[in-house]
Amino acid sequence: MSSHGAAIPMISTPCGPLRGTAEVPGDKSISHRALILGALSVGETRISGLLEGQDVLDTAKAMRAFGAEVTNLGGGNWTVHGVGVGGFAEPANVIDCGNSGTGVRLIMGAMATSPITATFTGDASLNKRPMARVTDPLALFGTQAVGRSGGRLPMTLIGAEDPVPVRYTVPVPSAQVKSAVLLASLNAPGQTVVIEREATRDHTERMLAGFGAEVSVEDTDAGRVITLTGQPELKPQTIAVPRDPSSAAFPVCAALIVPGSDVLVPGIGLNPTRAGLFTTLREMGADLTYENEREEGGEPVADLRARFSPDLKGIEVPPERAASMIDEYPVLSVVAAFAEGETVMRGVRELRVKESDRIDAMATGLRANGIEVDEGEDWWTVKGRGHGNVPGGETCKSHLDHRIAMSFLILGMAAQKPVSIDDGGPIATSFPIFEPLMGGLGAQLDRTERAA
Ligand code: S3P
Repeated sequence: MSSHGAAIPMISTPCGPLRGTAEVPGDKSISHRALILGALSVGETRISGLLEGQDVLDTAKAMRAFGAEVTNLGGGNWTVHGVGVGGFAEPANVIDCGNSGTGVRLIMGAMATSPITATFTGDASLNKRPMARVTDPLALFGTQAVGRSGGRLPMTLIGAEDPVPVRYTVPVPSAQVKSAVLLASLNAPGQTVVIEREATRDHTERMLAGFGAEVSVEDTDAGRVITLTGQPELKPQTIAVPRDPSSAAFPVCAALIVPGSDVLVPGIGLNPTRAGLFTTLREMGADLTYENEREEGGEPVADLRARFSPDLKGIEVPPERAASMIDEYPVLSVVAAFAEGETVMRGVRELRVKESDRIDAMATGLRANGIEVDEGEDWWTVKGRGHGNVPGGETCKSHLDHRIAMSFLILGMAAQKPVSIDDGGPIATSFPIFEPLMGGLGAQLDRTERAA
């Protein structure tokens, strides 16, 4: 079953060259944050290029439930009339965040220091994921949380009546945890300090500064030290959401492995805390260039050009790069299957607690399709077979995980035989136009009962 309805089995048949321009949707991380910070500011925030995937739509709905006025003007243009820091109303009903870990964790942070109670739930995937990583630091502000065993959703949070500022070192590399603490600190008096040992995506810090919060970031021996002064009046913003590098990864990787391909992916956000995949692909010998590099809305942006790359080689991906490409390992493992030699990915324990256990999900599907994979708790390796030598031919499970579903469909585009997935429904959470976009480039994707 999909998050929102019946399963959609799909098949990807080996195709000819992929060619053309791939206009991928807006950045998911930035879209969530634009809605949430818009809801916490006073006045009207205007957002263009918002990702209208299910994850973000669920966050928009949640912001309405907390009292913000959120309007879809069409064509990716939205407005949010915020209620101000500390102005959230108590939702009348359960907040359903669907498949979105980012949505639920950031919203928990945003409400944690207001004197209201809210109950959160999600789909079967989200309700398995750990929430204590967020509710533990929120407890330091005075927030109480009661959920299922193991800190799982459904879960009720009782916001702190008299929040206190905190000093917190994030124990796992997680932008969601960091962001939840920063959002909670908005309604605590004084200065909250969040320390992250490894840099993770910094969209929250950048956007908080844009909304007028007093936030400073210092690189020290202990890591990145982020200091935020509580109870600011956030000023509404006009936000142009850049296109999502994590979505761009799919047409880019497909172009590298399908012979004869040449694809332009314009306007991609290349924040260094997100761009690790592209660095890795270039190290593997990918013909991938950045054109027209510029800055848009405080984020670095470029047009990516990816061409078929006949001489890809396996590499060792440095563990310190993991946070900057954490969502891209599934599709990297597909590219690795077409490289010569082994690709080694270490320091990736976090992959086991995403929408699915992504190491397990990819290893199982890749092995079924004739690729040798080895794995440990926080590492995995893929033995490349070289172009033209990846068998394919089997059905893979997507485990309610959009990135697993899309990765196996990319595999089918360049394998010897078609690759099927049991459910393409989750793709709509982050990349609702994936099918027509890839089809427009020349991919052959079909919905089929045969794959069930
Ligand atoms: C995200 C952070 C990452 C990432 C997720 C989006 C964010 O999760 O995997 O897709 O927008 O903050 P973690 O913070 O759990 O690493």
